[in-house]
Amino acid sequence: MTSTDAATPTIGPADALVFELLATPEGRADPYPRYARLQEHWPVHRLVFEAPGSSPGGTWVLSRFDHCQAVLRHPRLGKDFVAMQRRWGLAEGELAAQQAFSAARPSMLFSDPPDHTRLRGLVAKAFTPRTVEALRPQVLRLTDEVLDTIGDGETDVMATLAFPLPVKVIGEMLGVPPADRPQFQGLVRASAASLEPFVSPEVLATSNAATLEMEEYFRHLAVERRREPGPDLFSQLIAAEDDGDQLSELELLSSAILLFAAGFETTTNLIGNGLLALLRHPDQLERLRRDPSLMPSAVEELLRYDSPVQVNGRIALDDVEVDGHPFPAGSTVLTLLGAANRDPRRFPDPHRLDVGRRDGASMSFGSGIHFCLGAALARLEGQVVFGRLLERYSRIELLDDSPRYRDSITLRGLAELPVRLHAA
Ligand code: HEM
Repeated sequence: MTSTDAATPTIGPADALVFELLATPEGRADPYPRYARLQEHWPVHRLVFEAPGSSPGGTWVLSRFDHCQAVLRHPRLGKDFVAMQRRWGLAEGELAAQQAFSAARPSMLFSDPPDHTRLRGLVAKAFTPRTVEALRPQVLRLTDEVLDTIGDGETDVMATLAFPLPVKVIGEMLGVPPADRPQFQGLVRASAASLEPFVSPEVLATSNAATLEMEEYFRHLAVERRREPGPDLFSQLIAAEDDGDQLSELELLSSAILLFAAGFETTTNLIGNGLLALLRHPDQLERLRRDPSLMPSAVEELLRYDSPVQVNGRIALDDVEVDGHPFPAGSTVLTLLGAANRDPRRFPDPHRLDVGRRDGASMSFGSGIHFCLGAALARLEGQVVFGRLLERYSRIELLDDSPRYRDSITLRGLAELPVRLHAA
């Protein structure tokens, strides 16, 4: 979606609240009290303000767990926004002006079956829980390498651990050479900015330029890997492209970008948001120290408590109904995952951090056919990182009690997290 006119005369309290939440720095920085009000009073809300050229069925915002889950699992609420926009006759010029390339490219994240099934199937084996569990020693080694460079004393965890570690892990899996990885931080951030619910034309243009630059990078890397294939996932995808009709060139490039980008921007925020939550709840941190067997449930709880992905969208491919609410064909439906994760109807005492919580999976990895492909890998990285931090440091001191979040809501994460580490 592109920018919207907030000054619509008929704007009501629910619209004002959603606008504040999704489009202002204050709302994005502190979403949880706003989610709670929406959930209570306007759980399924159609916005009065519309993005220019946006869907004919309107834009809807859902905040309760059950509704979000039902939407994400609905076979006629899909992800191919561009195909739908073409279907309702948006002129190509207008479409191009409004479209984020990352969403218009043929990746599994923005496609529906049968393309989704084919694209996901080509890489799914590399991400099964069993295949990923076999990577545990490698993730441990990479984590220790990063922690060795940090040592003890003061550090900004976002810069020294939360970003470099997931990049190393997915970079190794995909076969992106170490020297090439740092340049992706800025590019991925710029490209992912178009995932925000409301985007200015300037942000869109920067996002598209970043996507093109990453495509160019992987186009060159493909030439090298074709000459000299490696044991990596990118070489496997190239083999699938060379096989004939399994994968087009653009699909190859957008799959590589998706895997690389999804593999670190989100996990970076799991490490940052999760560590901050633990440091703000010293009783829970101590409990985890005393009983490391709680680590798997602790990581689930950290994912729930301050989810790295807060907003997810679908488009109605036909007229559909969810829990009695009709969504006309072409409706854009935004599911607020961060709100769903704090829904008291689903999680008792939802604003309490409880590393031993056993209330079942949160909505942090989504649901249905687009359920996060990298969930097992992200969980493994979370378990290893928090485990090694607690083993290697007897005390972790928070140096700024209110570290700044980056100004985005779809991907929620900290700009910095300054701490002092005391070696065990
Ligand atoms: C804490 C870390 C992570 C979180 C919170 C997260 C969250 C999500 C969510 C919510 C979705 C669903 C999007 C939708 O329904 O439209 C998703 C999809 C996806 N994620 Fe993750 N993710 C994480 C880590 C990873 C990692 C490490 C990878 C590794 C490659 C990855 C790869 C993907 C891919 C490829 C998809 C698209 C799946 C599809 O469309 O079928 N993610 N992720």
